[in-house]
Amino acid sequence: MIENDLFLRACRRQPVDRLPVWYMRQAGRYQPEYRRIKERYSLVGICEQPELCAQVTMLPVQQLGVDAAILFSDIMIPVGAMGVPFDIEADRGPVIHRPVRTQDDVRRLAEVDPESDLPHVLETIRLLRDQLTIPLIGFAGGPFTLASYMIEGAPSREHLLTKGMMYRDPQTWRQLMDRLASMIVAYMRAQVHAGASAIQIFDSWVGCLSPEDFRDYVLPTMQTIFAGLKDLRVPLIYFGVTTADLLPMWRETGADVIGIDWRTPVHTARARVGNDVALQGNLDPAVLLGPWPEVERRARVIVDAGIQQPGFIFNLGHGVLKMVEVDQLQRLTRFVHEYSEQKLAERREGKSS
Ligand code: CP3
Repeated sequence: MIENDLFLRACRRQPVDRLPVWYMRQAGRYQPEYRRIKERYSLVGICEQPELCAQVTMLPVQQLGVDAAILFSDIMIPVGAMGVPFDIEADRGPVIHRPVRTQDDVRRLAEVDPESDLPHVLETIRLLRDQLTIPLIGFAGGPFTLASYMIEGAPSREHLLTKGMMYRDPQTWRQLMDRLASMIVAYMRAQVHAGASAIQIFDSWVGCLSPEDFRDYVLPTMQTIFAGLKDLRVPLIYFGVTTADLLPMWRETGADVIGIDWRTPVHTARARVGNDVALQGNLDPAVLLGPWPEVERRARVIVDAGIQQPGFIFNLGHGVLKMVEVDQLQRLTRFVHEYSEQKLAERREGKSS
């Protein structure tokens, strides 16, 4: 049962006494416990065992004192269920040996029935629902980012094969986007029915598109996805990196919360998305490799900007790096809680006097 609903309140832009905090990749290799589990099991191996997967999801919850848990999984897990096998290579990322490049490849993609194709994911969520007292965030990859892995066959900097398909064969691109949209909607609906209290779409690489291309090639798909989830009444979060110039358009996606990276200051992002959505972010994960006073200084700037409007969730601008010390993240969580509580109280007193 959820006892601490701070995260959900902030997603809905309701008043909070302190800012909620969670971290992308909060379960991962920076944790000695995770590294020990990884000596025996692969990432996919962990995901296939609901008890172990729930245990990994829980690792950072007590340890860091965060206000939300995120399902331990990977954006590639449902891609396997679409009939596209992948490997996750250490320090590289997902690799697909038979990439999706032609219209026939797209036609061959299997439709995903989450209950029968991904039962272990849903079982993990059911176990977590019984254990957690904070909200659980379910997630999927965004359509552009999933398409990029499927088309390139490996992590890519420029996404040229992906853009090549978009420009050269817009019909096949659209068919791929439609397939991904229906998978994402079905998968996210199943996660919410199993017990997820919010959904985040990780479209990490969509920031490589110009605003015009985002509008033409991705925005309609994002609108379809969020429209297909709206009736669930859970917060819908859309996250990407290097999205500064896309942000004005992101309010048209139907997202309730927009996740930003550190390249866009919070006040700039706020001006671009308006006041009808919540914001989430955005400490540079690399700052955690520096000394504590520098971490604190940067966190203070984010909190000061974040509390100017209702609806702010403190996070990093991308995932926790594997070189980070657990202790830095513990300290950061505590600092953001205490500092934001003090600043929000000051604001309330300022307003009432
Ligand atoms: O946030 C969490 O704690 C939940 C777990 C989670 C993982 N991947 C586990 C994981 C989440 C939300 C993801 C999402 C994901 N996966 C994204 C979107 C977010 C982002 O980081 O941009 C992307 C692009 C992927 C694809 C992927 N999987 C990459 C690029 C890598 C990194 C390769 C590396 O070695 O750094 C992975 C592997 C992966 N997924 C790891 C974890 C903890 C690290 C390797 C491992 O533990 O085996």
